[in-house]
Amino acid sequence: MKDKLQKIRENAIAEIEKSDGLDKLNEVRQAILGKKGELTAVLKGMKDVAPEDRPKVGQWVNETRSAIETILEAKIEKLEAEALKLKYEKEKIDVTMPAERGVKGNLHPVTQVTNQLTDIFASMGFEIYEGAEIETDYYNFTALNTPQDHPARDMQDTFYLSPEFLLRTQTSAGQIHVMEAKKPPIKVVSPGKVFRSDDDATHSPMFTQMEGLVVDKGITLCDLKGMLEQLVKKIFGKETSTRLRPSYFPFTEPSVEVDVSCFQCGGKGCSLCKGTGWIEVLGAGVVNNKVLEGCGIDTNEYSGFAFGVGVERIAMLKYGINNIKLLFESDMRVLKQIDDK
Ligand code: DAH
Repeated sequence: MKDKLQKIRENAIAEIEKSDGLDKLNEVRQAILGKKGELTAVLKGMKDVAPEDRPKVGQWVNETRSAIETILEAKIEKLEAEALKLKYEKEKIDVTMPAERGVKGNLHPVTQVTNQLTDIFASMGFEIYEGAEIETDYYNFTALNTPQDHPARDMQDTFYLSPEFLLRTQTSAGQIHVMEAKKPPIKVVSPGKVFRSDDDATHSPMFTQMEGLVVDKGITLCDLKGMLEQLVKKIFGKETSTRLRPSYFPFTEPSVEVDVSCFQCGGKGCSLCKGTGWIEVLGAGVVNNKVLEGCGIDTNEYSGFAFGVGVERIAMLKYGINNIKLLFESDMRVLKQIDDK
């Protein structure tokens, strides 16, 4: 019996030494120590051993088993260490190699200008209100002093979804929502998409506006002019000033068109300002009393000013873009050039 066990042990050691992988080692373990293994068979045969010899034989078997296990464990450890070393070798990186450059994205120019404007207005104490893109005829027109058959409706070619619902043509619709929800003092700007059936080099069926509304005691056109002066200096540079020209919007009285002195030529006249020295940037005015009263605001006590600016127009002026389509074609060669934060 002792010889037999010695043979098993030697054979096992040889097999373990020969094994070159963890799978192979497992096979060897099964073949010797497994349920149907060689050494297990010896244990099962113990019943045939004379009772007085059993303790001795049992001890030999156990010694053999633990010797084999020790060698097996050592081999496993060695193979694992080798595998780990190999893995490290494979994953080794040369930190002195030049890094691959990641592709850096940037915000869309319209988003950049929207953010710049909201930052400026926030610094002046304006709150932000974001309205819905689908509006009712009432909020988009009627409440803004533009009833059904008003000729000013022709100023904006509207996408109607039904006789009652439409895609808002102007963020001015937000003015009404704000005044219905809040008592003066009111000081909000409202950025968002607007829609008009209009399509040429400077018009797109979808574009972005930023509306402003201030309602408080004693607000006049001078407050508007003062705020605009600050605004354009921050957008176009310190040298820029404003000029107001009379205009017409149903929801303001008086209404003005706001020009800025040409920031390209400084007012001398160039191709950007078409030789006039001035560039039109937005519409504004003193809020029409009819609009305030429609929202339940006492016009003996309160007055306000409002303005609406086209964000694409500002982006085009600022970054020298001559066709609004360039902003919507998603051509990365164009969009990547404008990274102004
Ligand atoms: N809603 C006007 C438009 O889309 C722009 C505008 C003009 C807004 C004067 C105003 C304003 O708030 O006072 O053409």
